Amino acid sequence: MLSKEVVRLLNEQVNKEFYSAYLYLDMANYYTDNALDGFANWFTVQAQEENDHAFLFMTYLQNNNERVKLTAIAEPDVPFNDLKTPLDAALEHEQFVTASINAIYEEATKQKDYRTLQFLSWFIEEQSEEEKNSQDLIDRFDLFGNDAQGLYLLNNDLGTRVHTPPSLTL
Ligand code: FEO
Repeated sequence: MLSKEVVRLLNEQVNKEFYSAYLYLDMANYYTDNALDGFANWFTVQAQEENDHAFLFMTYLQNNNERVKLTAIAEPDVPFNDLKTPLDAALEHEQFVTASINAIYEEATKQKDYRTLQFLSWFIEEQSEEEKNSQDLIDRFDLFGNDAQGLYLLNNDLGTRVHTPPSLTL
């Protein structure tokens, strides 16, 4: 049986993952609006991954006989001043999610909840990949995004990203 606090944090994480999907869709819409369909594709795939994450947290709660509590998803309100702003905001957001997952891990450690710790270990690894992907995108934008031809090629490359289901199955 999971502790009340671990359940509360896991439910909160469901909301955070759905919010992440919402935020990335907002970024995808911003790039669509700026005729950068490749960037839009990259963030749409990112949103699909966040949806997967939310479902994994829900399934874990359900598998442990816990009621999933869905709460309101906040409106994404990050202002996008230029083409790079969403990229910086995405990295900052991933760092926030990492901290959030670490906090659940900390609580599960306190509770000696080894089952949840094992479940979360996939997300710990996933977050290092998420932060790396966001940082790589910033680095590539800094290298190629400041002239029209570089931006065009980068946009084409980002358009090839496809959604793959998570390696974790529950
Ligand atoms: Fe669900 Fe991007 O972390």
